[in-house]
Amino acid sequence: MIKNNLILRAARGEITERTPVWLMRQAGRILPEYRKVREQVKDFVTFVKTPELAAEVTVQPVDILGVDAAIIFSDILVIPEAMGLPYKMIEAKGPMFEKTVKTEKDVKQLRIAQGDDLQYVTDAIKLAKKELNGRVPLIGFAGAPWTLFAYMIEGSGSKTFSQAKKMLYTNPKLSHELLQKITDSIVNYLKAQIAAGADIIQIFDSWAGVLAPEYYNEFSLKYISQICDSISEVPKIIFAKDAYYARKDFLNLHCEVIGLDWTMDVSESRKLIGENKTLQGNADPCLLYSDFDTIKKETKKMLRAYGPKRHIANLGHGLYPDTEKDKVKCFVDAVKEFRF
Ligand code: CP3
Repeated sequence: MIKNNLILRAARGEITERTPVWLMRQAGRILPEYRKVREQVKDFVTFVKTPELAAEVTVQPVDILGVDAAIIFSDILVIPEAMGLPYKMIEAKGPMFEKTVKTEKDVKQLRIAQGDDLQYVTDAIKLAKKELNGRVPLIGFAGAPWTLFAYMIEGSGSKTFSQAKKMLYTNPKLSHELLQKITDSIVNYLKAQIAAGADIIQIFDSWAGVLAPEYYNEFSLKYISQICDSISEVPKIIFAKDAYYARKDFLNLHCEVIGLDWTMDVSESRKLIGENKTLQGNADPCLLYSDFDTIKKETKKMLRAYGPKRHIANLGHGLYPDTEKDKVKCFVDAVKEFRF
């Protein structure tokens, strides 16, 4: 039994005493307590693969910030690795893949990840669940097929992801083959996370915004839809950054929650997505650079815009690493104190 199950109830559309809150990238560098644990293992990939430490930093935001859910500490790039593309995390630069996918042979050589390939994540989930002891739900996650495809072709982050998009335009058949392999891997992985104890899952489509709408439908949404159809054990949150043009299509996804980024107007989004989904979001992460009074005022404004039903409070994207912990706490407390 989970004592504080506000997020699960809000996801399913039940009335809750107050709006629940968690933050994307809450388990990370904004917490001095995280940095202390992180120092024990310099290399990010090794850190992610150490279940005891991953579990410890997963629980930290629940203890320190008082959020209504924990999210398992890991990365979206564990799937490409399990498929045969190891990555490194370069300090202040981001992810880097030694090998990238270019040819049909490269795609053929990739494996479909199985649940037990990622046992270090499921072990971390089991440990985190034990540590949480039913206080709040645990969120499992994966990158969306298109976002993982983008990293696997490009080999690193990019402003345009033009190499990845080039593959869609020049070899759509091979692109679909790769996207299908990634999708099958994600489904296996999410099912393993759920079996280990994840109570709800989120799909991050961080690079949705680089695609033209028709291309988004064909090369991203179609595969997200497959994932939604394959998973019915727990509620699902779909967060597609900058995909404002796809909001009307999210209406048809078999998922409970749609994440909004901060560029998306709440009432317009509600009209496009309809009354049958919970919305999550969507304060600008930069709001947390302002003073405490402004944070409180703007957070309340946001809560009123969504209304008392079907809302999970969050930012419109992940926390920036230079955000002060007390400002984050101010946002969380402002949500928790508010009543309609
Ligand atoms: O939300 C959480 O607190 C759980 C942990 C989590 C991490 N990455 C830890 C991490 C989650 C959910 C992610 C998801 C992720 N990873 C996404 C999707 C969300 C988004 O921001 O759009 C993406 C695109 C990645 C890939 C990735 N990982 C990048 C681009 C980087 C470098 C830039 C950055 O944000 O720091 C990472 C590294 C990373 N992943 C860090 C953390 C805490 C920082 C590394 C460190 O602590 O040294």
